[in-house]
Amino acid sequence: MTLKQNLKKLHKTGAGDLKTLSNLKFYPALKYHFLTPFYDVIIKLLVPEKRIKTRAISFLKPLHEERVLDFGCGTGSLLELLSQKDLKLQLVGLDPDPAILKIARTKIGDRAKFNQLYTRVLPFQNAAFEKVISSWVFHHLRDDDKLHYLRELRRVLTDGGTMIIADWGQPSSRMQHLFCFVTRLFDNFETFENQVNGRFPSLMEMAGFQVTVLGEEKTILGTLKYWQLCPR
Ligand SMILES: C[S@@+](CC[C@H](N)C(=O)[O-])C[C@H]1O[C@@H](n2cnc3c(N)ncnc32)[C@H](O)[C@@H]1O
Repeated sequence: MTLKQNLKKLHKTGAGDLKTLSNLKFYPALKYHFLTPFYDVIIKLLVPEKRIKTRAISFLKPLHEERVLDFGCGTGSLLELLSQKDLKLQLVGLDPDPAILKIARTKIGDRAKFNQLYTRVLPFQNAAFEKVISSWVFHHLRDDDKLHYLRELRRVLTDGGTMIIADWGQPSSRMQHLFCFVTRLFDNFETFENQVNGRFPSLMEMAGFQVTVLGEEKTILGTLKYWQLCPR
C-alpha cells in the first residue's frame, strides 16, 4: 500500500479526526504512564542522551534572542541544554502530558515557558518561532498525525526558520535492524513503520519542507537520524 493510500485509509477510519479536539489522546513517553517519573533515568541508561541532544542543538544553530520551540519537550532535558547557552533565547516547551510537564517545570523553572497541548492545533500564532526542535516524538505518531503536526510546525515556523528532528530512522546495518525490531516490539510497532522504512522524509516534504539528513547515531535501540527541515 502506498503512503497516500495509507493516509486515506487512516482518514476513513476517523483517526486524527478534529472531533478529538478537546480530548487529545497521546502516547506516554515510555509507553506506560507509571514509567514517566523514571524517564530521565531510563533513557540515560539506554542511549547517550546528552551527546545526542547536544548534537541536535549544534545542528539547530540557535542565534541570539531567537524564539525556539521544543515540540514534545518531555522532561525538558533539551530545553535545559539550550538554556545553558549564553544567547537569551525565548524557550518554549510543548507537550500533551501534564505529568511530564510537571517534571520539566521543576527542572527548568522560569528559564523556559511550558504549554500543554490540549488539541491538535498548536497553541501559537503563525511564524511564532525562528527555530523548532523535536527529539524522539514523531515515532509515537501515526502517519496522519505525523503529517498534521509537520504542517502545524511549518505554520508556526518563520519562512526563514529551521527545524531539527532527531528520531528513529532507517536502520543502517543488519545489527541495527535487529535492535530496531526489538525496540519496535516494546514500543509502538505501528507508528514506527514509516520511520524505519525510510518514508518519513516524504511526509516532511508533503508538509512543505526541504529535507536534509545531517547525521546519524547507531544506538542499542536503533539508528537515530538528524533531519534538517527548511520551509520551501
Ligand atoms: C519519548 S518522549 C521524548 C521526550 C523528549 N523530547 C526527549 O527527547 O527526551 C516523547 C514525548 O512526546 C510527547 N507526545 C506524545 N504525543 C504528542 C503529540 N501529539 N504532540 C506533542 N508531543 C507529544 C510525549 O508526551 C512525550 O513527552
